[in-house]
Amino acid sequence: MVTEKKPDAEEATGTSESAAGEAAEEPRIGVFVCHCGTNIAGFLDVPAVTEYAATLPHVVFATRNLYTCAEDGITDIENAIKEHNLTRVVVASCTPRTHEPLFRNACEAAGLNKYLFEFANIRDQCSWVHMHDWDKATEKAKDLVRMSVMRAALLDPLQELSIDIYPASLVIGAGITGMTSALSIAGQGYTVHLVEKESEVGGMVRNLHLLTPTGADPDTIIKRYRDRLDGNPNINIYTGATIESIDGYFGNFDITMAHDDREESFKVGTIVVATGSEEMKPDGLYGYGELENVMTQGQLEVLLKEDGLKDVKDAVIVQCVGSRGQRVSYCSRICCMVGIKNAISIKEMFPDANVSVLHNDVQVYGVLQEEWYNRARGMGIRFRKYNPERRPEVSDADGKLNVSLYLDLMQREIDIPADVVVLSSPLIQTQSGLDLAKMLRVPVGQDNFFFEAHVKLRPVDFATDGIFVCGTAQSPKDIAESISQAHAAASHAVNPMEKENVNVEAITSRVNQDECIGCGFCAWVCPFGAVAMATNDKGHWVSVINAALCKGCGACAAGCPTLAITTQHFTEDQTMAQIAATFPEPSEPGPDFEPQVLAFTCNWCSYAGADLAGVSRFQYPTNVRIIRLMCSARIDPLYVLEAFRKGADAVLMSGCHIGDCHYISANLMTEARYFALKQYLAELGIDPERLQLAWISAAEGEKFAQVIRDIVEETKKLGPLDRNKLRYKASERFGAESEA
Ligand code: FES
Repeated sequence: MVTEKKPDAEEATGTSESAAGEAAEEPRIGVFVCHCGTNIAGFLDVPAVTEYAATLPHVVFATRNLYTCAEDGITDIENAIKEHNLTRVVVASCTPRTHEPLFRNACEAAGLNKYLFEFANIRDQCSWVHMHDWDKATEKAKDLVRMSVMRAALLDPLQELSIDIYPASLVIGAGITGMTSALSIAGQGYTVHLVEKESEVGGMVRNLHLLTPTGADPDTIIKRYRDRLDGNPNINIYTGATIESIDGYFGNFDITMAHDDREESFKVGTIVVATGSEEMKPDGLYGYGELENVMTQGQLEVLLKEDGLKDVKDAVIVQCVGSRGQRVSYCSRICCMVGIKNAISIKEMFPDANVSVLHNDVQVYGVLQEEWYNRARGMGIRFRKYNPERRPEVSDADGKLNVSLYLDLMQREIDIPADVVVLSSPLIQTQSGLDLAKMLRVPVGQDNFFFEAHVKLRPVDFATDGIFVCGTAQSPKDIAESISQAHAAASHAVNPMEKENVNVEAITSRVNQDECIGCGFCAWVCPFGAVAMATNDKGHWVSVINAALCKGCGACAAGCPTLAITTQHFTEDQTMAQIAATFPEPSEPGPDFEPQVLAFTCNWCSYAGADLAGVSRFQYPTNVRIIRLMCSARIDPLYVLEAFRKGADAVLMSGCHIGDCHYISANLMTEARYFALKQYLAELGIDPERLQLAWISAAEGEKFAQVIRDIVEETKKLGPLDRNKLRYKASERFGAESEA
């Protein structure tokens, strides 16, 4: 039984310092294995893993800590780097997704380049998912440490690119969100270019007759904003203007805009996207577009504002029109409140009118909004629930509308007469928003809204540095939420300008122009436009990568036919070394055959999904080993073949769902390579089922566990892989032709 005591110095396992004077190139690796209290040590043998780590090539020091992330654990790392002259550090503990920055900082504090740090995830992806198999979990932890050590030995110190930030921001969209953001940035002393495609500022709010929950007059609010904008010398407002092009990169964006029948250009350091959204036109639903007096909430708002609604005796409002699975999957969040507000407005205008709200369920956020709901009920507005499986139907009944509503409780249909039928349809992304996403090379999600870098940790950032998003361009939200997000985006846009220059991630792709044959495939696949083709000083047509634009997804490197491109920190050598270290022995045939499975995951989704499986304690077989890459597009076909060659009986390629890739559309390349590889495996006489592809989001821990259970089960039926069938030349790039 492992105790929770802090291992003392004598327990540290290391070699003598005699090697210190050896060639500086020889890696000197220190391994720190964490007990994580009992989170790791309660389910596998940490001392045995530590002793094993000490036997691995290049490891000159190995120890274990009760909590490596605690202050004394960090101090241990810093001291060991200095005392043992470590040139690489491996921590075997929780997950790089939360703790890598901490340990990297420890390395830097001790004078070691932070890119010489490597993680072995033996908690979320080992002890927590194999809680009932001490021996196999221990063996797997040893494998994971070995894989990390072999990769660490080949890590290179990297320098981050320092970029000067031009002290101005572009805010696109001058609705309430954009205006708030612009005022916030300008208030902090920076120039703002506020660009609005409409002829006036105010966005969707301009068409509202009343704001909830405050009951404020939209025109008054917009006027106040406009006065503040006009009175701020740091703000340049362009209405009726459209962005024509955006070139450059974080800190140095070159903007070209069409305004007043001419082109204008300016430079900015950061960009805030506040383009808003629009109401979906529910054509074909509930008679919309076919029957007179069937209208959307947006159209009703205009009528209410312009006093255009006449003689209403019966009004019916239908909620969740087109949303929640009917046309779009999401709940639009604001429709309940808008429906209630407008029901009250109709009732106030026509006190004798019968007003009904037909809903799937009512969801209003916050006490103030609930008061509106209670007020509506108090006024006699009827809230009636409909069954989404049997939605209300609207028809024309002799010049008046009729809404037939099936009542679940009474199991019968009733007819509700209506002078107007108002449909609460969801907010959707605009076409100009989609065009802008392409221009900015930032992703949109499956629902077409702008897709933030991380829903909790980076909710207003894009994976692309220097561009931020707020308001309903990102997802449906109310005005208060949009305003607070606008402030958040503004402060993110200001931060780098305050610093004047920033370092950008060193994980980028590099091209060896001597190896480049100028095929241009890399330029074609790059989702960020970071690769250009040019003639070099030797007169050769070659690929040139702009490091400031490159985000390091690796889609180019995985497709380069001559291996001329590599992605720093995820080089071929490093990953191949990891693959080679994954399975020390081939699996044993026979009745006890245990398939060996290698899973390639992307950093942002499927790796996070695997972590979530651990956090949720979803158990799955110990047969799988995971290799993390930044994006599934970095899964070089050679990696898959090499995994098979080096002992895998099955390989899993996994990443974010299509549409959710953090590198825009890079995972489309993953899919293409997957199908090409399957075909190639079949040609080799290998069952293509040995290669699987799974899109797994960060929220799908259960799915990750199930995918592993399934792949292990299916591979058991197939038996061990006959590796003699793998006759390919590792020096030849596979799949480039089929991809191109
Ligand atoms: Fe997950 Fe691209 S980042 S597949």
